[in-house]
Amino acid sequence: MSPEHGVAPGRVDALLEAEIARFEQTHPRSGRTNERARATMPRGVPLHWMANWPTPYPVCLAEASGATLTDVDGNTYADFCLGDTGAMFGHANPVVAEAVAEQVRRGSTTMLPTEDAVVVGEELARRFGLPYWQLATSATDANRFAIRIARIATGREKVLVFNGKYHGSVDETQVSLRNGRMMPQPGVAPNAVDWARTTKVVEFNDVPALERALADEDVACVLAEPVMTNVGVVPAEAGYHDALRDLTRRTGTLLIIDETHTISTGPGGYTRAHGLDPDLFVLGKSIAGGIPAAVYGMTTDVAEAFLRYTAKDDYRISHGGFGGTLVGNALTLRALRTTLGEVMTDDAYRHMGALAEQFDTGVAQVIADHRLPWHVTRLGARVEYLFSARAPHNGGEAKQFRVPRLEAAIHLYLLNRGVLLTPFHNMALMCPATSESDVDLHTGVFADCVKELVP
Ligand SMILES: Cc1ncc(COP(=O)(O)O)c(C=O)c1O
Repeated sequence: MSPEHGVAPGRVDALLEAEIARFEQTHPRSGRTNERARATMPRGVPLHWMANWPTPYPVCLAEASGATLTDVDGNTYADFCLGDTGAMFGHANPVVAEAVAEQVRRGSTTMLPTEDAVVVGEELARRFGLPYWQLATSATDANRFAIRIARIATGREKVLVFNGKYHGSVDETQVSLRNGRMMPQPGVAPNAVDWARTTKVVEFNDVPALERALADEDVACVLAEPVMTNVGVVPAEAGYHDALRDLTRRTGTLLIIDETHTISTGPGGYTRAHGLDPDLFVLGKSIAGGIPAAVYGMTTDVAEAFLRYTAKDDYRISHGGFGGTLVGNALTLRALRTTLGEVMTDDAYRHMGALAEQFDTGVAQVIADHRLPWHVTRLGARVEYLFSARAPHNGGEAKQFRVPRLEAAIHLYLLNRGVLLTPFHNMALMCPATSESDVDLHTGVFADCVKELVP
């Protein structure tokens, strides 16, 4: 038995082999579809990440509704992946579906605002506390634009990120720390960015390292998730956010909080739940019920810089170097207004939080029953397990706690029994349509899987 994560590698390999065979037997049509699609798309998928599941080929979706997926072979799944947060408020929500269908019939994209923009702006300001807002089509873009605006506002170039972060495919952030030195992030294609000029990276929760990195006063912004979520969950330690805000203020550095995942915490995200006070705020993925959209908010000071740079002169608005043709169109605004107003409600969060607690308790019990050196963390509606006895202090440590083959074996075992976790790590999300029986199904199958791994 491995001393680190409590499971013998031989058991993991045997389980993987058996589960791949089982998958192929029960997913023949998905296999044929993928085979055919390979003729026109690399790996037979429209986005290469869709081949990132532990399956020999991806499950081909037939339909998604509420918290349930059905594939083309007729298999159904309790969906805890929820589009890796994109569908955190459930699939095919009837209220959003109706509003979106109606808006498509009335026109989707015109380069004009609609009255929905007023309601969306007011609701974002009320919910997240920042006065001014703009839209983007993805959280990646919102982060890019927020960084750009931070540069405009400060006259500085660098962005500081935390080791192990993910903020989308934002070129300047694709770095990591190795032996204390900044390196290109492994697995990321070269992008001609001169990182020494554009970027600094430090470990999360390390106040002295942050202080040293900001001391030169050459960093435009710190871009941070309030709790790291893309390497497993790395909680912010007591006092860290106060130190982060204090150091950024003292050095004239802007703070961008990216809540794209941590919106699981509550209706106002981690920011409202913990009284954070960022200069810019980014949120994407789930907020328009599946229609591509993201928002970024800013303080009055930052908005002044934004307005200066995008000034209107001789009947022309300066392009500013950011934005996009489909951004903030009528369809997106209607989807946003409906999702914010009628789906991301306090009641929905109460339901999601209670189920996440049930999920968390179930996993913790299985871990305790087998005395495994694993732990489970809950962030509102999100639950994540990791193969270490305690939560990591930072991204570097979290990476060491990942065991890709073990993760793949568990995910595949669950998938073959109708439970879907996100393919990227052991993350489970609850949506308003998730039921107690969905959670019980996961707990039971997870317990059986662990019994196979640790007899
Ligand atoms: C914290 C965070 N920010 C931004 C993004 C980028 O989102 P998108 O891929 O929708 O652009 C992600 C994606 O996982 C994320 O986790």
